[in-house]
Amino acid sequence: MITSTTRRSAAAGILALGTVAFAMPVAAQQKVEVWKSPSCGCCTGWVEHMRTAGFAVTVHDVDDVQPMKDASGVPGQLASCHTAKVGGYVVEGHVPASDIRRLLSEKPKARGLSVPGMPADAPGMDMATGQPYEVVLFGGDGGDRVYARH
Ligand code: CU
Ligand code: CU
Repeated sequence: MITSTTRRSAAAGILALGTVAFAMPVAAQQKVEVWKSPSCGCCTGWVEHMRTAGFAVTVHDVDDVQPMKDASGVPGQLASCHTAKVGGYVVEGHVPASDIRRLLSEKPKARGLSVPGMPADAPGMDMATGQPYEVVLFGGDGGDRVYARH
């Protein structure tokens, strides 16, 4: 016999499933490819940050990351440790996943995003020093510009 209570809990179960599905990030299955040195710990930290944020990350360990940076058009002054590709964009260094999501939804005309160098507080570095850092949008029509400040 189906009571109103069981019907309610069944409905609640379906609702809960629905909530889980909708709570998943929109870009949950967004693929990311990363080129990094096999010995780079902070690169691995960034890969974990991206996976936690719901990206499907493929890692390419390479002894020399420079050829990939050159082929991707990463300017020398914007270079960092690892280079990634996502949705047709280049992502250089410790760029927060939230900025990559924004990039993928806004789709600006640009080559990609960079966090130049390796700021102590960027994701994967995670030193929590309180030092601010910037995310740069590069290769766009109007030249490079600050995309986000953290
Ligand atoms: Cu790094
Ligand atoms: Cu790295």
